[in-house]
Amino acid sequence: MDAKLKKPKDFLYNRMGPWPQPCPEHPFGEASGVIHLPFSECFDWWLHIGSRYVFSLMYSPIAYLRGLLNPGLEEVDDAEFVDMLTKTMLSKFIKTDFDENDKNIFGDLLEQKDIWICDFEPVKVVKTFKGIFASATKTLLRKENNTFVPLVIYVDETDSVFMPTDGEHWCLAKYFVLQGGALCSTLVEHPLLHFPMDCINAITKTALPKDNVLFQLMCPHLRFTLYLEKAVLTFKTSLLKGKWWMPYAPYPGYYEGLRELLVQGYQGILNNASYPQYKYQYEPEYIVGSYGDFHQAYFKVFKTFVSKILDEIDDTEKFYIGKWADYIKSWQPDFPDGEKILANQELFVSTVAYFLFDVSVGHTVDHYNYGHMNIRKIPLRIRQAPPKKGMPIKMDRKKLTKYWDFGKYEMARRLFFDASTKTALINTQYNFGHRNEKLQKVVAQFKLDLREVDANLRAKGQQFIPLEKIATSIQF
Ligand SMILES: [Fe+2]
Repeated sequence: MDAKLKKPKDFLYNRMGPWPQPCPEHPFGEASGVIHLPFSECFDWWLHIGSRYVFSLMYSPIAYLRGLLNPGLEEVDDAEFVDMLTKTMLSKFIKTDFDENDKNIFGDLLEQKDIWICDFEPVKVVKTFKGIFASATKTLLRKENNTFVPLVIYVDETDSVFMPTDGEHWCLAKYFVLQGGALCSTLVEHPLLHFPMDCINAITKTALPKDNVLFQLMCPHLRFTLYLEKAVLTFKTSLLKGKWWMPYAPYPGYYEGLRELLVQGYQGILNNASYPQYKYQYEPEYIVGSYGDFHQAYFKVFKTFVSKILDEIDDTEKFYIGKWADYIKSWQPDFPDGEKILANQELFVSTVAYFLFDVSVGHTVDHYNYGHMNIRKIPLRIRQAPPKKGMPIKMDRKKLTKYWDFGKYEMARRLFFDASTKTALINTQYNFGHRNEKLQKVVAQFKLDLREVDANLRAKGQQFIPLEKIATSIQF
């Protein structure tokens, strides 16, 4: 290979970082973190993202007042309950893999045809505040034609199984399932789209020269992310800290337990088939139903785009891409090394396409979908103990949450959960240097293809987010 070695000035930050390191809080449990960042990244984030958080805090009194005027939770009937589990981002949790624990709880029920499980076991690690309750749950559903029917809910805290005929017990159990969905979506599953990508972000900025076509392709998709991640993981004002005075900290328990949810997502849960250890992916994982169809439809466009951009790479570019992959592999053991990635163009394309898909479509649609749910139907805090088989209960929906529970949740929804797109995927500008004449045509076609997918999804009723709202990078 005839590679030409580059000088520091040929790199974005003169080859002086940022670089991954073991996560300060959980060096052995969470993905690597990127903590030391150039001032320009900090400034850019505060100017465009952080300032919005500060400004949005002014809405707090209104959020609390809305909680006061309309207290408690709203009814969720069985049809809506199933739709929430199977036609939203919660459908990521619907699986057909059963483990020993599932078999012990549900026995012969699992032998029936078309049985699916929705397992929120990670909730076990949450240590709730006084007066607030949470429980791990497992829900069984049966697929009938194209729809699902709820069969039973297992509530771990009380070791009880409930059926739809169980009246108030069933209704209360459903709220605990949905609470588990909220916790596992935001702190177990969604973080896997964020944090494992940070080492790739940092290494791309530091180890690829600015005139490398891979850098030119990825660079617009790396903006805002590293400082955002640092804020979530290390700031004393992070919503994970759950301090009483934070008007935007909606979770039901203490920081340590919440942080453990991130570990469960990354490390997986031993002997639980629904929670394998994190691995780098080369295509979106299978998701049942239309939410999965949405992901697959967009991913195809990314693959076509990336394969055309990475079609011609010279020897110098190959040399640095090989190093780039080796560096990433040292932080992400399942990432292909330089030798593998250079020997297999299909693998190279899938690796890069998945990254771009993850940080744009995959990440934004989760936020948009969750951000548009009715937070009076998918609680994070519940102020009644979970139901126990044989024990009478009285459930008053208005008393299931306090007004400040709603206020904090609504603020978190506005600040963090809903998609607040600063730079949109459809407007992404790439600079391919001397290849611009050829590759800008590929970019134009990519954008046409994105518009076509968006129109098709809309026609099929599967447009989980309008294309214009999809962000270029992880920026919320
Ligand atoms: Fe996110």
